[in-house]
Amino acid sequence: MATVSRQKSILLKQFNETRARTLSLVQTLEKDDFVVQTAPFMSPPKWHLGHVSWLLEVVMSKTINNYEFYSQEFSEYLNSYYHQFGEPHDKDKRGLATRPTIDQVFEYFHMMTNKVTNILQNEMLDEKTQQLFFMAINHECQHQELLVYDLQHLLADRYRPLTKNPLPTPSLQESTSIKINGGLYIMGYPGDQFCYDIELPEHKVYLDDYKIDSYPITNKQYMKFVEDGGYDDFKYWLSDGWDKIQNEKWNAPMYWEKIDGQWMTCDFLGKRKINPNDPVCHVSYYEAAAYCKWANKRLPTEAEWEKAACWNEKKQIKTIFPWGNESPDPLHANLLESYIWNCSEIGAYPNGKSHYGCHQMIGDVWEWTSTEFSGYPKFKTGFSEYNDKWFANQKVLRGGSFGTPSISIRGSYRNFFRLDERWLFSGFRCAE
Ligand SMILES: [Fe+2]
Repeated sequence: MATVSRQKSILLKQFNETRARTLSLVQTLEKDDFVVQTAPFMSPPKWHLGHVSWLLEVVMSKTINNYEFYSQEFSEYLNSYYHQFGEPHDKDKRGLATRPTIDQVFEYFHMMTNKVTNILQNEMLDEKTQQLFFMAINHECQHQELLVYDLQHLLADRYRPLTKNPLPTPSLQESTSIKINGGLYIMGYPGDQFCYDIELPEHKVYLDDYKIDSYPITNKQYMKFVEDGGYDDFKYWLSDGWDKIQNEKWNAPMYWEKIDGQWMTCDFLGKRKINPNDPVCHVSYYEAAAYCKWANKRLPTEAEWEKAACWNEKKQIKTIFPWGNESPDPLHANLLESYIWNCSEIGAYPNGKSHYGCHQMIGDVWEWTSTEFSGYPKFKTGFSEYNDKWFANQKVLRGGSFGTPSISIRGSYRNFFRLDERWLFSGFRCAE
């Protein structure tokens, strides 16, 4: 009983904090900013606000008998991809809808906050219902991060964050390759709090001995590949990747532009020279794989990445985070609540290093792995259509980014994207 009410109070606290964080991210936007879609892969802020509230209705519809959705019109616009709730609105046309209006969406947002708060405060919730509400909170965290990607695309340095902290003091480091002994490793989520269905069940994998980089690949390292003609030579590229860079005329990571012989980028910190010591960001799987081939290395599998991040060889235990089991704080990792709005230079988080000595595995940039996204052996779906219908043609990324809310990341977390996507905060480290 004590555990149930403790879980309920965590649920209520996380719910309130998450709803407040969503609002804080859009608090300084102008009304016009809410509606515009600047690319087919991004969504207007209005849509994110409405969609996270609609997902609360989805959860209520699974847990309350004869639940009636607020509005058919809202549900049609705000349904992302759930065919069980009707025909979803076209993703690339989200910016063409002037209805519902932003005022209506805000009203809807607050209405759903109140409705769910009321349930969490006053009702007895069984284990399954609690898990569904935890899922809705984690879903909203995922959309906060997507919203940050989208705000960068929409506004870059014209976005005025409510909180903006200075970059941590740089501490220059050279990347080394860390040797990790192989053998049987039990991968998956080992804790007793919420995790997604795709992080379970824990299961054994066999790994050969391998080496993995102590830091993510930096802009300086990646620039050598670019300057060496990496984007001009088919021999480094997967066939689909080569077609993609030809068709899209990619010659560097997204947002990079060469001006007067100088590589520049444009992001939340404005138009500026590329910082050579930041992890490379905004690369697709194709680009990460091409770099590895050029460098005579390879991407780690997700099991190799997870063992390097979470296994304590000395104590023979697996921890939830690279540094142990304590929740992340701004000295461990650069996550959303660091409010730096950029990657930090490599070596900036000595407190967050893994037991093996790998740095910045949590935060800064998501790291591509070579693993195809699929369910673990004996996978059971926790919510149909949420994760399980994406078990094809996507690769797994690990570790979170500077846009990831801290309650929603852990060493076992599996993100996934198509191989050509790069508007997310994505980088990588190499293995051998
Ligand atoms: Fe969603």
